[in-house]
Amino acid sequence: MLVTNAKELLQKAMAGKYAIPSCNFIDLDSARVFCKTAADLKLPLILAFAEVHKNMISLEEAALIGKYLAGQYDAPIILHLDHGTEVEYCLRAMELGFTSVMIDASMKDFDGNVATTKEVVDAARKLGVQVEAEIGHVGSNVLEGDGSLYTEPEEAARFVAASGCDSLAVSIGTSHGVYKTGTPKLSFDALHGIAAALPETPLVLHGGSGTGDENLSRCAKEGIAKINVCTDFYVAAMEAVKGLDDFFDVKADSNAAIRKVQEHYYRVFGTK
Ligand code: 13P
Repeated sequence: MLVTNAKELLQKAMAGKYAIPSCNFIDLDSARVFCKTAADLKLPLILAFAEVHKNMISLEEAALIGKYLAGQYDAPIILHLDHGTEVEYCLRAMELGFTSVMIDASMKDFDGNVATTKEVVDAARKLGVQVEAEIGHVGSNVLEGDGSLYTEPEEAARFVAASGCDSLAVSIGTSHGVYKTGTPKLSFDALHGIAAALPETPLVLHGGSGTGDENLSRCAKEGIAKINVCTDFYVAAMEAVKGLDDFFDVKADSNAAIRKVQEHYYRVFGTK
């Protein structure tokens, strides 16, 4: 069922020292796999649609798919907008029924990030929607020189107090996409510092793919409540369909591969 209490679910995960996976869907098939797997395993799910995928399906289509499927499956499902870059886009998502939105103004300076996030938070409060924001910056695709800026604990605490966001994406060494040079080295010292500075605020790890099970399991146990995964699902799907020449087999085998990755990450994150 579609639920609105993202912060409560994430705080429960914090207290229980596990993380909830945020799975990026790009079409009806992937969304259905994520919801069905969550229901079969009786586990919570953050069903995420990223603004960057709006060329594949529109926000309106994503909202309809998410709401419909969440209503069909017996698991707590949060319909989340991932990496909304504009206030307007976040507002549209809320109006369409997303129960959680991320406003990513992490490329702005501190005051600009606070102001943009606060605008979304103010609108979200009226609609009972939860807001994730980002401080520091998780870059893309490479281990070093990817534009990432580590999150500073003191700055993170000031940011949450000033913006009123419900959860916070932090940068501790992951990147979005496929790593070119192996498993990343995460800064658990940075994570512990941020978690100590923000004992009530659920923390979010972006760029879960390729980060390594040991790193992710430690993150879940040591302060991260939500872990975002996208690339690993679609890499596994591509791998599974190599050599197939029947479109129906391609659909079935890619869906099965996506499910296997989701089941794997539920185990790694210790999700309850
Ligand atoms: P990956 O594609 O690296 O798993 O990142 C997903 C993500 O962080 C979505 O916000």
